[in-house]
Amino acid sequence: MTVARKPLISGNWKMHHNHFEAIQMVQKLAYLLDKEDDAAVEVSVHPPFTDLRSIQTLIDADKLFLRLGAQHCHFEEKGAFTGEISPVFLFKLNVAYVIAGHSERRELFGESDAMVNAKVKAICKHAMTPILCCGETLDEREAAQTESKVVGQIRAGLAGLSDEQVGAMVIAYEPIWAIGTGRTATSEDAQAVCKRIREEVSAIAGPEAAASIRIQYGGSVKPTNAAELMAQPDIDGALVGGASLDADEFSRIVRYRLG
Ligand code: PGA
Repeated sequence: MTVARKPLISGNWKMHHNHFEAIQMVQKLAYLLDKEDDAAVEVSVHPPFTDLRSIQTLIDADKLFLRLGAQHCHFEEKGAFTGEISPVFLFKLNVAYVIAGHSERRELFGESDAMVNAKVKAICKHAMTPILCCGETLDEREAAQTESKVVGQIRAGLAGLSDEQVGAMVIAYEPIWAIGTGRTATSEDAQAVCKRIREEVSAIAGPEAAASIRIQYGGSVKPTNAAELMAQPDIDGALVGGASLDADEFSRIVRYRLG
């Protein structure tokens, strides 16, 4: 079955850019991109929470084709959860995509597979699209545990979702050893894992969901390696950290098709 999957290039800003810097960055990005980019790829930016309202206003006012994304949310709608952000609040800000289970959240903030699954469900329930992250450490790769780690995270992350919900979401394969290190998985290795993820999605939610789900690669994506990664049949986009902080660099990744 062949389904055209529109690539999704997402900029995960992590804890960078205050709301003034964010506005400048998005204005510059909007200036660098044009209608042809909009036709070829979908682009989301994931600034820190304190920037979201400013960027939403800018996207609305200037009718930008950029999609607004968040980096994280809580799975409950409201309650005594000091410091957390409800998916309901994000939806009200026109957030389209929410990253769930980034390795930094798992490793530094103790997010378990069960929490990530609850979050994925909450994001879907509130009419947004999760970007579910998975990936192995260097030790796991060297111990030939990449497949078992990634498949385990996917099974846990997708538990209890309908086939339609799975088919509409995004998975990001991000080998932890490649994040922020300048080391990228080879395009063959990245493709092999993304293919395995798609097979697992097919086993969980059926072939239609597997054909429509978008799988991003993340981990030191740069203008110089984006085209080769994106040429792989099972890679449908990129989750970009460091290189998404600069409008010039990020726009060149969005325009990977131009070489
Ligand atoms: P990087 O980050 O592009 O800086 O490696 C990717 C990510 O963490 O999503």
